[in-house]
Amino acid sequence: MKLTGNVILITGGATGIGFALAESFVRLGNEVIICGRRKSKLDEAKKKLTNIHTIRCDISKDQDRRLLYRRVIKNFKQLDILVNNAGIQRQIDFKKGMTDLKGKDDEIVINFKAQVQLAAQFIPLLIKNKDEAAIVNVSSGLAFVPLAIYPVYCATKAAIHSFSMSLRHQLKDTPVKVFEVVPPMVHDTELKGRPVQKSEISVSASEVAKAVTEGLKNNEYEIAVGTTKNWVATAKRDFGQAFLNINT
Ligand SMILES: NC(=O)c1ccc[n+]([C@@H]2O[C@H](COP(=O)([O-])OP(=O)(O)OC[C@H]3O[C@@H](n4cnc5c(N)ncnc54)[C@H](OP(=O)(O)O)[C@@H]3O)[C@@H](O)[C@H]2O)c1
Repeated sequence: MKLTGNVILITGGATGIGFALAESFVRLGNEVIICGRRKSKLDEAKKKLTNIHTIRCDISKDQDRRLLYRRVIKNFKQLDILVNNAGIQRQIDFKKGMTDLKGKDDEIVINFKAQVQLAAQFIPLLIKNKDEAAIVNVSSGLAFVPLAIYPVYCATKAAIHSFSMSLRHQLKDTPVKVFEVVPPMVHDTELKGRPVQKSEISVSASEVAKAVTEGLKNNEYEIAVGTTKNWVATAKRDFGQAFLNINT
């Protein structure tokens, strides 16, 4: 995949992995658009990376997604790479029934439904590219083995993995390549809403971005980062044992 001279849209690009990707793509000579809900974070990102384009958008809202599409068409006329990166993570205790789930089911909409909608919305535009284009879906090591304290999050990431496989197959005769990024625990993002201790199993957001640019260049469709390489292999070999290992 050619990684220069593209127009790239990154959802959730103001922080964490999304911002690290934005930095890498700008450095490689691409036009980068990031979106997110918080204006303060978009402004901060723009201060650090003055030549990015920011669009305020809540991808879980139909109207915001439509506006995002119109803004991309109006200002850039084309799109080469869509990075479906925005996501949230919630601990949910189903023993508490609706009490704990209440107000937390936005995970399904943000992590899965919105990604599906954005893919459908942008694929006709991506297909117009004469040479190549891409959709990059960010899943997680937890797509392959769920960590039970995040039951819905893991299910949405498993759904993204499955969806990416089907999309890749459907689009195989088009210019649109479908990549899946499988990060391990990342210690410098806002996903958990609290600082995450750096450890031997974690990586930084910029390490994820480095692995992604390498993976895209080499047309590696499932980009497992750091420890997720072993993780995914173990899960494929002995899922039951892998599940017990992380849940006990
Ligand atoms: N951190 C990890 O350990 C880890 C591991 C594996 C996979 N991942 C995945 O990596 C991706 C990026 O996460 P991250 O770790 O970099 O966390 P992050 O720093 O919290 O980034 C997530 C971004 O998504 C945006 N976002 C959330 N909901 C949105 C919505 N409804 N509309 C538009 N933007 C929205 C957030 O901005 P606003 O809140 O301002 O909208 C934020 O900028 C996620 O899909 C996550 O599941 C992370």
